[in-house]
Amino acid sequence: MHFLLPTIAALVAVSSSLPTTSTNSHVVHEKRNSVPAKWAKRSRMNPSTRLPFRVGLKQNNWHRGPEFLDSVSNPLSKNYGKHWSIEEVTQTFAPSEESRDTVLQWLTHHGIPSSSVKVGGALHTLEFDLSIEDAEELLKTEYFVYEHDESGRNHVACEEYSVPEHVSKHINIITPTLHFDVKSKRDISRAPYHEPFGDTHKPFSKDDNTTTLQDCFNMITPSCLKALYNIPEPSEEPCEENSFGIVEYNSDTYIAEDLDRFFKNYTPKAVGARPEFVSILGGKLDTSNPSDFNTHGESNLDIQYAMAMTYPQNITLYEVGNDSTDDAGNVNFMKTKVVSVSWGQNENELTPAYMETVCNEYMKLGLQGVSVIYSSGDDGVAGGSGECMDDRFAPDFPATCPYVTAVGATQLDESNNDLAGTLESNGQPEVAINSVVKSGGGFSEVFSVPDWQKDVVSNFLKNADLPFGKEKFNNSGKVRAFPDISANGHNYAVYTGGEVGAVDGTSASAPLFASMISLINEERIKAGKSSVGFLNPVLYKYADKYARDITSGSNPGCDTDGFEAVEGWDPVSGLGTPDYTGLKDVFMSLD
Ligand SMILES: *[C@@H]1O[C@H](CO)[C@@H](O)[C@H](O)[C@H]1NC(C)=O
Ligand SMILES: *[C@@H]1O[C@H](CO)[C@@H](O)[C@H](O)[C@H]1NC(C)=O
Ligand SMILES: *[C@@H]1O[C@H](CO)[C@@H](O)[C@H](O)[C@H]1NC(C)=O
Ligand SMILES: *[C@@H]1O[C@H](CO)[C@@H](O)[C@H](O)[C@H]1NC(C)=O
Repeated sequence: MHFLLPTIAALVAVSSSLPTTSTNSHVVHEKRNSVPAKWAKRSRMNPSTRLPFRVGLKQNNWHRGPEFLDSVSNPLSKNYGKHWSIEEVTQTFAPSEESRDTVLQWLTHHGIPSSSVKVGGALHTLEFDLSIEDAEELLKTEYFVYEHDESGRNHVACEEYSVPEHVSKHINIITPTLHFDVKSKRDISRAPYHEPFGDTHKPFSKDDNTTTLQDCFNMITPSCLKALYNIPEPSEEPCEENSFGIVEYNSDTYIAEDLDRFFKNYTPKAVGARPEFVSILGGKLDTSNPSDFNTHGESNLDIQYAMAMTYPQNITLYEVGNDSTDDAGNVNFMKTKVVSVSWGQNENELTPAYMETVCNEYMKLGLQGVSVIYSSGDDGVAGGSGECMDDRFAPDFPATCPYVTAVGATQLDESNNDLAGTLESNGQPEVAINSVVKSGGGFSEVFSVPDWQKDVVSNFLKNADLPFGKEKFNNSGKVRAFPDISANGHNYAVYTGGEVGAVDGTSASAPLFASMISLINEERIKAGKSSVGFLNPVLYKYADKYARDITSGSNPGCDTDGFEAVEGWDPVSGLGTPDYTGLKDVFMSLD
């Protein structure tokens, strides 16, 4: 009977290739019902403009991601810390040949020869350039230029797109289409200090007996953070295998002179040190307008603090040039053991398929032992710049992705007049941030609740006596909630344009927390262990061993008072603030 097989195979091949030439039955693959807040549709896009297109193919083993990640990040798993190589990850999730060939055939049929299609790094994206005119024909759609009310920034998008039915089932997403994948930095705010630092406003430094911890109420410095969270001085000899990355998007870039002014005051031995620069998608160091907080504030903040907390650990700066082409699948440049990102978007600017695709890439980073740390947003339950949509809360992506660690913001409780005493007695001197910034938090509209978070979320919902319900957020207890943890984000001394200002935001909290994880990785590597990788299963399971609960404050937005910080986990401050020593002990006790 063997001889029959080739014939059957041939028949199958023929019949499966028929639909590409004979069928016209297109199905809508993705569709958006409204334009995200603050974007206005302007004109039809110029038909001759060529753009880089990407087709994200369906991936093998996609639904097994949570199980794989659990096996290397759950502290009870015998495979804890046994991270995968990039080859194992790529092979496991590679799309089937059938998916790839079906899509290639469809493209060829539309005059896009296979020779002009590049298979993306992780095998699941097909990349090619296409004119708008041809894309409109291929995807049965129309492209428009949209303009952002405030920034004046343009974005090219359509409202829906269609592909043949037999192709649709092999595709996750196509970009650029209807996603408003425009990254924005947090609404960090800056209050300039008008007074020069006289004795009364001298920033706290543990080497200077003329200042005290109480000065941390005027301004947060690296010394304040070390005292608040029991963070030790970094070792003089970091290990080469350790690595720590910060992601920035153009045109926000750091200014070298500002780093040195900051280091001179707070970390003298780091004067002259710079992050290692890695350009992604044409990212550049743009040092024009060095005094402009809008184009340098985020990077100056992130890098000044990451370096002050961990120097002489090397820091890698991933400067991303073009977020319009940073589609799903393009996060795998994040190769350092910890990555901190203080940029994000609103879920409602994207689509579920887009977010699931990107989020799964973070799962793959976790499998490889990378801890991905995102700030949770600065507008409470509202989205970036205080946007809400259809009167609903606007959760932040990627903070809602269950494979990242989302960090909210806290501040010192201003009624505390004995900070040193509170810390000595292991008390909590902080509350949820209550400045112009409110800690981003809430419940995803897309992602299911992960196992490690189920109990605390249902506990919170059971006990919270909320004045609003499912008209504002998904209160089923079945969705991913955020943030996971929080850390100080108020009054950080940051140099920009030669001047120090007090900066607020979860933008500050994320690199601070990431610095702690980098220091812990160093300890683990020196002890012959792996990096910690995906953190959340451990963070939730052992919160009682390291977290100081935040039980005061809230995160207002969308004309509500938001959620309240309560005993235990809450969608304002997560599990609370970390005590470094406790957190380090937890991770050192694991294999
Ligand atoms: C600061 O304290 C240290 C240690 O107690 C002491 O040796 C030093 O003299 C003090 N310096 C000043 C300026 O008081
Ligand atoms: C830091 O980077 C420099 C320059 O790339 C390199 O020479 C040095 O070995 C690195 N140090 C560590 C501890 O990784
Ligand atoms: C970024 O992408 C947009 C749209 O894809 C394009 O118009 C622009 O030229 C690109 N910019 C750079 C610096 O590559
Ligand atoms: C809330 O989330 C659950 C789980 O994803 C989903 O089944 C349900 O439809 C959502 N409810 C609303 C109102 O969107």
